[in-house]
Amino acid sequence: MTEFRFEVRARDAAGRIGKLEVNGKKIETPAIMPVINPKQLIVSPKELKEMGFGMIITNSYIIYKDEKLRETALEKGIHGLLDYDGIIEVDSGSFQLMRYGGIEVTNREIIEFQHKIGVDIGTFLDIPTIPDVPREKAREDLKITLERAKEAEEIKSIAMNAAVQGSTYPDLRTYAAEKLSEMDFEIHPIGAVVPLMESYRYRDLVDVVIASKKGLRPDRPVHLFGAGHPMIFALAVAMGIDLFDSASYALYAKDGRYLTPEGTKSLSELEYFPCSCPVCSRYTPRELREMPKEERARLLALHNLWVIREELNRVKQAIKEGTLWELVDERSRAHPKMFAAYKRLLEYGEYLEENEPITKNSALFKVSEESTRWPIVKRAKMRAERVKSKFPETVSHPIFGEVPKYLALTFPFAQSEGEEDFTIPRPAKSDAKLYIKAIAEYQFGESAGEAFEDAFVELSRKTGMPRQIKARGKHLATFRADDGLLTLGIEGARRLKELLPYPRMRVVVNADAEPFARKGKSVFAKFVVDADENIRPYDEVLVVNEKDDLLATGVTLLNGRELRVFRYGLAVKVRRGVEG
Ligand code: GUN
Ligand code: ZN
Repeated sequence: MTEFRFEVRARDAAGRIGKLEVNGKKIETPAIMPVINPKQLIVSPKELKEMGFGMIITNSYIIYKDEKLRETALEKGIHGLLDYDGIIEVDSGSFQLMRYGGIEVTNREIIEFQHKIGVDIGTFLDIPTIPDVPREKAREDLKITLERAKEAEEIKSIAMNAAVQGSTYPDLRTYAAEKLSEMDFEIHPIGAVVPLMESYRYRDLVDVVIASKKGLRPDRPVHLFGAGHPMIFALAVAMGIDLFDSASYALYAKDGRYLTPEGTKSLSELEYFPCSCPVCSRYTPRELREMPKEERARLLALHNLWVIREELNRVKQAIKEGTLWELVDERSRAHPKMFAAYKRLLEYGEYLEENEPITKNSALFKVSEESTRWPIVKRAKMRAERVKSKFPETVSHPIFGEVPKYLALTFPFAQSEGEEDFTIPRPAKSDAKLYIKAIAEYQFGESAGEAFEDAFVELSRKTGMPRQIKARGKHLATFRADDGLLTLGIEGARRLKELLPYPRMRVVVNADAEPFARKGKSVFAKFVVDADENIRPYDEVLVVNEKDDLLATGVTLLNGRELRVFRYGLAVKVRRGVEG
């Protein structure tokens, strides 16, 4: 039986940095699997591993159909055949089915073959239904895909992909995603999107991906089948894609095409290389053009792999910094069709808001008009409106308009940059408490301010900003200098729990986790039995047991829906436990 785990470590937009572990081998996501054609190795799997590609994908159908490859694979296993000790995923021949209309293997045969050659992640024979077919055709195909999923589930003993199909019908995509999520699979690729990408239909791609993501369990990694162009990484990751695969690094190289995060260039049009990878530092475009074909293709393939790697690192760094939307905005300018896709994505406000972190490590930059439609901005405006009803005094903000005066220290109002400056007020001693109450209403919801009715707010002598918040000698909360939000002390958590009806702000854990949470140890996702569905990533939460006794307070990485579903990884990083 296979070992498979996926956990989330950091996030921004609907994207995440995750840890994926298969059969003892680990990689960080988002990740890309270079596609290996076992009949034609331009760059060897071993070299790929050395370049940092810990996972590759190849096609079990090609191996199955070729007598020599098949015998070697059966004898030495697929890791022996490819001389690669990282994670090997295989496709099933479905893509050949889509491209050439037929294949000579059954679902059961190819799955059994995948088991026999020892792949880490298999794929059953799903039916990739191309875009725009009649709805009836899409439904029929999907029915077969789901039957094959059932068959795969019955015989599988390895980790497997279950691809979401449904052509360009969002409701069929969501339905397929829901059905497959109920079954025992490890990864969900989104299938049959290659034709959309080939014709630059990125806006339709957004519709397909979001419709699929909505139906999928949030704790399984999602692979965008056939996507490997660095131009699309930021947008795709922002939608919640964790895995990519690329055949283009090699295919493009063969006809002299050069990948950049802004699009594809032809070697023949390049006078200078806009890249400093080992290949581009060493050669000029002219030198490459004058090389023998084979050598040129190999070097171009290596460059293509370096840029793919670099762009994925850039995306991951943006997640850490909380600047993924800035990066998506920038990348979307590469092509009008990308820009259209970006604007389309911003229409999915509810999906995006649910996944959007509460706070970030960087100030918000208003880099474009689209910035004002980012989920972080829309949420801030909505919550500010709510706070305004209790704290009507406002200040004028160049990005957010009229905002409650007492939110002026808080993210993203104080931590944002537009063309015009916003002057952050210095709270007076006499109204420091009003700031804290308004922040509590903004952060924890309606009525939360009441927990701070009798609070005393210490102001920093140096900066004039609030620091510790106490009442009757007890610590209620700390004003976080970085983002002007609150972290809770035990007394503050206690008061909020009394004030706010169940399940607000709660992460409910079972009895196994109770002693650990009380001691201040972090809570793992597998112990969570329920959670407030309004919790958002990086929210401060209350950890309670099933009797609603307060056990601890801390920060969660997951939203409410995810807290109920995830089985691996951290759920709440506990700051303080409540000794029973
Ligand atoms: N490769 C590219 N698209 C697909 C797809 O929809 N299904 C499978 N199995 N492989 C693919
Ligand atoms: Zn380069």
